[in-house]
Amino acid sequence: MRELSPLRWRDKRLYIIDQRLLPAKEKWVELKDERDVFFAIRDMQIRGAPAIGIVAAFGFLLGLRRLKFRSRKYVVKKLRHIHRFLGSARPTAINLMWALNRMLKRAESLLVEDRYQFEDIIKIVESEAINILNEDVKVNRMIGKNGNQLIPTSASILTHCNAGALAVGGYGTAIGVIRSAFEEGKNITVFVDETRPYLQGARLTSYELKKLGIRHFVITDNAAGFLMRLGKIDLVITGADRIVRNGDTANKIGTYSLAVLAKENKIPFYVAAPLSTFDMDLKDGSRIPVEERSSEEVVVIAGKRIAPKGIKAIHLGFDVTPAKYIDAIITERGIIYPPYKKNIIKFINSSK
Ligand code: MRU
Repeated sequence: MRELSPLRWRDKRLYIIDQRLLPAKEKWVELKDERDVFFAIRDMQIRGAPAIGIVAAFGFLLGLRRLKFRSRKYVVKKLRHIHRFLGSARPTAINLMWALNRMLKRAESLLVEDRYQFEDIIKIVESEAINILNEDVKVNRMIGKNGNQLIPTSASILTHCNAGALAVGGYGTAIGVIRSAFEEGKNITVFVDETRPYLQGARLTSYELKKLGIRHFVITDNAAGFLMRLGKIDLVITGADRIVRNGDTANKIGTYSLAVLAKENKIPFYVAAPLSTFDMDLKDGSRIPVEERSSEEVVVIAGKRIAPKGIKAIHLGFDVTPAKYIDAIITERGIIYPPYKKNIIKFINSSK
């Protein structure tokens, strides 16, 4: 079976699966320029922290390829504009800026050297985007392998949102850990939060787990606490959109409630994420920008209004889970344990 990935770079063209249509329809669409990429991210045709970073890297490349070479200074100015534009598509997942910063840095480092022709620069910047994609898949496999150490031989695992192959370059972070345990022959059952209002759990995580043949049940978000209390869940594992210096972690709205419920029920709560999700510029979670999305996404379901006309919903796309609720953070380089204030910085410096 071909490894699932939300995007493809084929013959210098970028294609993504329109995730808004899953699981009913697997439709690949081409994104022709940086504007297409911007709207695909903003409108959630592609979503998930690492995946939006990767697609933005290709968006940057598409933007570069459309430029007319007037001078090196001109190209740098235009690229900075493309970097800012793509970076503004969604605010919370730091992977978006991480990938764009890497692309801009690479392009600028080439543009200051006279020995590179514009065509050479395009080729090298293309390899950088391809590397970002390929590295991400490797990183996820390593996260899976590392996280597997925390999974008992028989486990019922709760997950939230979608942190599987569709949210990254391939394989998945939280789902990568679950896959790795499953591939090793462990007896795994997954409880998949449906994840209102966008239903990433019911639509995407369940779609992926079904393809992988992993036993799972979709549950309503508000069932999680009682299932924990009934002893049906052994551990919780989620992905992350941004982890800051003290371990506070932004992830899909609802993650914080799960973490508190897990603590109350003495169930381990783990976060699985690549190092590209760490934001070492922020000392705690209070400054993480939390995306506010349209009220319509909450009050309209499948084209039908469910709340009285004129009533608005508050729709925060993410929440921030304080570090004290997180028992371990699984990365490609190993597992970080509390106290995070001390251990994250130590870990990041030792992995450089
Ligand atoms: O709004 P989304 O679907 O982009 O939110 C995605 C999540 O919150 C994921 O859990 C997170 O990005 C981790 S994905 C590896």
